[in-house]
Amino acid sequence: MQFRQVFPIILGLLYCIPVSCTPLGQTIESRQLLPAGLVNLNFTHIAGHLTPLTLVTNTANVDFDVAPIIPNLSLLVAISITSVTLSAGISGTEYLAFTHDFDTPLSVPLTGSVNSGTINDASLTQGALPTVFNAFPAQSLDILGASVSMEVTIITPPFTAPLLLPLTQSNVATTWSLF
Ligand SMILES: *[C@@H]1O[C@H](CO)[C@@H](O)[C@H](O)[C@H]1NC(C)=O
Ligand SMILES: *[C@@H]1O[C@H](CO)[C@@H](O)[C@H](O)[C@H]1NC(C)=O
Repeated sequence: MQFRQVFPIILGLLYCIPVSCTPLGQTIESRQLLPAGLVNLNFTHIAGHLTPLTLVTNTANVDFDVAPIIPNLSLLVAISITSVTLSAGISGTEYLAFTHDFDTPLSVPLTGSVNSGTINDASLTQGALPTVFNAFPAQSLDILGASVSMEVTIITPPFTAPLLLPLTQSNVATTWSLF
């Protein structure tokens, strides 16, 4: 292909993926605005670990698994997560909230999923006991709101851009453990 033919395609790509062109920290309106779905995320599991201090601090350690959702034809070659702010709950009531910056960006495989590793001191918004009584048996949480900062790399032209993905998600399988 001649450059003349390629160039409009590249332009079209950039035009269609405005998020690639936005400066760091700029938000897009919703996940649906990612045209042709550059990338989306599926939180596949949340785990909450209560510690002996949980009753005093109303905090817990958490980890999560996340999988990318990528269209079949994609120029995406790498995804990593640099930070996550997340609010999760049941029927619109927040039970769990945290903001976490990854010291080393969390590399997300293009197929499969990755575990976040332990995130300390997530807030149990409703307190420890209501969490045990209400959230434990529910075995799932809705992500009421999340904001995931990522770096995505597309191969043509080689290009890495920050991407801020806001999302909500229903019924994420959630397990809890005590101490
Ligand atoms: C998200 O992950 C869950 C659990 O693995 C799975 O059941 C669901 O189909 C996935 N959703 C999408 C849109 O891939
Ligand atoms: C994308 O891939 C899935 C699974 O491999 C397949 O079922 C689906 O038909 C493909 N979609 C397109 C538009 O090719």
